[in-house]
Amino acid sequence: MILGTGIDLIDIRRIQDSLDRFGSRFVQRVFCPNEIAFCQARPDPAAAFARHYAVKEAACKALGTGMRQGVAWRGIELFREPRRKPYLRLKGGALARLETLMPQGHDPVLHVSISDEPPYATAIVIIECRPKDVFS
Ligand SMILES: CC(C)(COP(=O)(O)OP(=O)(O)OC[C@H]1O[C@@H](n2cnc3c(N)ncnc32)[C@H](O)[C@@H]1OP(=O)(O)O)[C@@H](O)C(=O)NCCC(=O)NCCS
Repeated sequence: MILGTGIDLIDIRRIQDSLDRFGSRFVQRVFCPNEIAFCQARPDPAAAFARHYAVKEAACKALGTGMRQGVAWRGIELFREPRRKPYLRLKGGALARLETLMPQGHDPVLHVSISDEPPYATAIVIIECRPKDVFS
């Protein structure tokens, strides 16, 4: 069952501007250490940070809260592994909100898809719930 969807589109130049103006203050406030290391190693760090930013906004829309009610930027973390699709983990208030959405006896499954075509980056997040496997 689908419990929530969120989408976001962002202008990479806006993120470049925040990087230029606020530097590590902006980066540390919004992104997790794993995300920072990943983005800084990319040929175009601003585009990579913009894709992550779009994921966080899409996820907070899928949760139905925006960045409010305890849902915070670094509570939504994107992971990538070579040649695997990216995946999300929630922490803190974002995880608490996810748990309130879950019907009893179900586990959450988070789907994320990302794209960019400079100067824009976009992401979509879908929150699914699946019945717990009683045999596992
Ligand atoms: C929910 C949120 C992500 C919307 O993002 P936005 O950049 O303002 O606007 P977008 O154009 O991407 O999205 C707007 C749409 O989001 C949807 N939306 C608004 N609040 C929402 C919520 N709580 N849950 C799900 N969707 C929501 C609405 O459909 C809205 O469209 P509408 O105005 O036509 O109704 C935003 O309110 C938010 O919490 N942003 C965090 C921003 C922030 O803290 N910035 C500081 C910079 S570090």
